[in-house]
Amino acid sequence: MKEAQDAPRVGIHFPPGIPDKVSEEVSRIAQIFTVDGESLRRITDHFVRELDRGLTHEDSDIPMNVTWAMKYPTGYETGQYLTIDMGGTNIRVCNVILTEEKGGYEITQSKFKLPRGLKTGTADELWNYVADRVAEFLVEHDLHPGEEKLPLAFTFSYPVTQENIRHGVLQRWTKGFDIAGVEGHDVVAQLEEALEVRNVPVRVVALVNDTTGTLIASAYRDPQVKIGSIFGTGCNSAYLERCGRVPKIAGYELPDDQPVAINTEYGAFDNSHQVLPRCQFDVEVDRTSPRPGQQTYEKMVAGLYVGEIARLILIHLHDTSGFLEGADISRLRRVNSMESSCVSKMEEDGSATESVMAETRAILNEQFGIEPTLQELRVCCLIGEIVCTRAARLYACGIAAICKKEGLETGRVGVDGSTFEKLFRFKTRAAAALREIMDWPDDVEDLVTFVQAEDGSGIGAALIAALSSDCPHGPARVS
Ligand code: GLC
Repeated sequence: MKEAQDAPRVGIHFPPGIPDKVSEEVSRIAQIFTVDGESLRRITDHFVRELDRGLTHEDSDIPMNVTWAMKYPTGYETGQYLTIDMGGTNIRVCNVILTEEKGGYEITQSKFKLPRGLKTGTADELWNYVADRVAEFLVEHDLHPGEEKLPLAFTFSYPVTQENIRHGVLQRWTKGFDIAGVEGHDVVAQLEEALEVRNVPVRVVALVNDTTGTLIASAYRDPQVKIGSIFGTGCNSAYLERCGRVPKIAGYELPDDQPVAINTEYGAFDNSHQVLPRCQFDVEVDRTSPRPGQQTYEKMVAGLYVGEIARLILIHLHDTSGFLEGADISRLRRVNSMESSCVSKMEEDGSATESVMAETRAILNEQFGIEPTLQELRVCCLIGEIVCTRAARLYACGIAAICKKEGLETGRVGVDGSTFEKLFRFKTRAAAALREIMDWPDDVEDLVTFVQAEDGSGIGAALIAALSSDCPHGPARVS
């Protein structure tokens, strides 16, 4: 079996001038962060079993949420929909018109920055803010409803239990959100109440996860897309399952071959700590997060945590091996002070042969007040490489698990999320790891490939709303 060249280098070649103690410790950490092909395959096998268990009534770490999006678009969907996407930094409101022309649409949009503090505020503050932005959008774009309120598709990218497409009880906040009074409640009802109070003439017709929106929007353009995936602040994927293979909805008595989109919520994979190679830095990331014990896989892989892992390693090197000796690293000690873009930049900078690593130097200087030597900069680059490589390789396990579970031998994965495009060599590394897990012969091109996704929370959400319009409340529950 050919091992990917993108596995982190364990036998690291250190440039001269790096103290032995630092290089020894970096080598040890590199070893811990190395996930070889055999481990990738073992993790994936466990992942497949957990995906299956999540579809039953058995306890599983992975929720496998039924989304009630029940078909792929044909390209002939029509209608006008408002959409809202509540992301980690912004809220985006769109007016989407699906036109008569096959696959055609028009879209206008506005973005608003989420105010600081909202992520840890109260439910009222959150919904009032969202409802106000929708109201503003209607005025700004001169949108008036007719007899009926305007239909709205709401992309809410957190785990919810849905009884139908326009309902969703928040299971738990993820991605660092910690807003009181929402967990355990129907977020559609909460948003509609805030809209009602303000007389905003809008009704929610679909609650959509970003992965499902991505899947539907990408498949609309390219029928070879079989998985919708997000690799950004969080990490998660959705795919279309047959109802007959989802024992936990047997009570709805749906035809066995009826498709239904499953939002895996596989960021929660291995919450029971059976298979992932967690180390002291992962334990620390979890401990200081608002929901310790949750989202184990996501915390080792996704954009929100990559910077934090690298930051903890740098501090560890300082405290144990005399790295950045004499420097005042108090600003670096602040939890969550390093963004994933910084880690990516460090690695990218270090790969340039004649580089003086000007960008890394500038970032460390501006953001943390540190003046590293050239050797210290090189160590930062290595740490970036070690952390980003592990993230990409573990990310491939989730995709491989869906492929294996579904018997998907060829196809495309539509991936969206800021970090996917920006993280240095992420796509190449994930593809190489996928190849190792799937064991494709050397002379065969990649059979499952990653492609940039279409707009899931705008077009995808509008399509899901249109596709659900003949069955707005989802199937009736039989038992
Ligand atoms: C987190 C959320 C999930 C979302 C993902 C990507 O894992 O729980 O719903 O799809 O982030 O945004």
